[in-house]
Amino acid sequence: MTGMVDLRSDTVTLPSPAMREAMYRAEVGDDGYGEDRTVQRLQELAAEKTGKEAALLVPSGCMANLVALLVYCQGRSEVILGRSTDMYIYEVGAMSFVGGIHPAPLENGRDGTLDLAEVERAIRIPDVHFPTTRVICLENTHCLAGGVPLGLDYLAAVRALADRRRLPVYLDGARVFNAALALGVEAPAVTRFVDALMFCLSKGLGAPVGSMICGSRAFIDEARHYRKMLGGQMRQAGFLAAAGIVALETMITRLADDHRNAQLLASELAGVEGLALLRAEPPTNMVFFRPNRPGPSVEALAARLEATGLQVLPMGDWLRAVTHYGIEAGDVRQAARLIRAAVAAP
Ligand SMILES: Cc1ncc(COP(=O)(O)O)c(C=O)c1O
Repeated sequence: MTGMVDLRSDTVTLPSPAMREAMYRAEVGDDGYGEDRTVQRLQELAAEKTGKEAALLVPSGCMANLVALLVYCQGRSEVILGRSTDMYIYEVGAMSFVGGIHPAPLENGRDGTLDLAEVERAIRIPDVHFPTTRVICLENTHCLAGGVPLGLDYLAAVRALADRRRLPVYLDGARVFNAALALGVEAPAVTRFVDALMFCLSKGLGAPVGSMICGSRAFIDEARHYRKMLGGQMRQAGFLAAAGIVALETMITRLADDHRNAQLLASELAGVEGLALLRAEPPTNMVFFRPNRPGPSVEALAARLEATGLQVLPMGDWLRAVTHYGIEAGDVRQAARLIRAAVAAP
């Protein structure tokens, strides 16, 4: 345990010793010319793990989401997505500014879902006044709903609607392996309901850099053009891919520790006077909490916590604590002690 417990995000993870070793030894080449065998192995592995035909390594989740939308949206395009998703809130409006894509945001339910009747209503009919609906986007796990996995029945219902209206479904699956674990299935049981997805190597899987876009071969071939256009094609990226391979081979089952630690944190905070929890039983690796009103603002509480040795992230009305590789049960108990003390302080 070090001095500061950092629960801001699962992106703060440091590469495991096995990853550092794999990066050091990685066989690399110029991926711009398709000559990096380690990148190719990672892409094959990512496709296999998500049950898709092909995959593409990109530097970040944000770029992965943008590249995918650029593939789907050619001309007068609109995408249906949740108002409280990363793609809508936290990606600098990239789809509009870079892609000329119009978002059609719908309210997310408390469980991160979109109401299917509203989705149906939001799908544009051919009319000179309207842009064209190109894709329905989901986020799984849904971060702002509390790291909630979308259920398989719900995903099946979205798939059926999309098939009926002849639309593709895209998944921001930054944490799709957390979702699968929480649902008690392998990832392809989740991803089979979507046409394409991205997941992040650099979050709970602990790799230093990278996200994978996964989909049909034709989709990935097209995505490669947009990755290049956005400056996301890298050269000896095998050094990064090597860590990604270790992530996919060794870090997926470990996510269960993060889920247990998030439950531990929530149970340590349950019933604390002056504190509210978004979910008493966090389904994955995130705990959202806030001071009851009247009380300090979330920013003030975050600052108070940081001064005593705990980092958490203000997100809207809540503070987010994410458990991740490198955080043990002892760190979580320490975090809970600091939160209880900060809330009790005058
Ligand atoms: C659900 C979700 N999607 C996408 C992203 C973007 O990923 P990146 O930070 O790699 O751009 C994040 C980042 O936290 C996320 O939580």
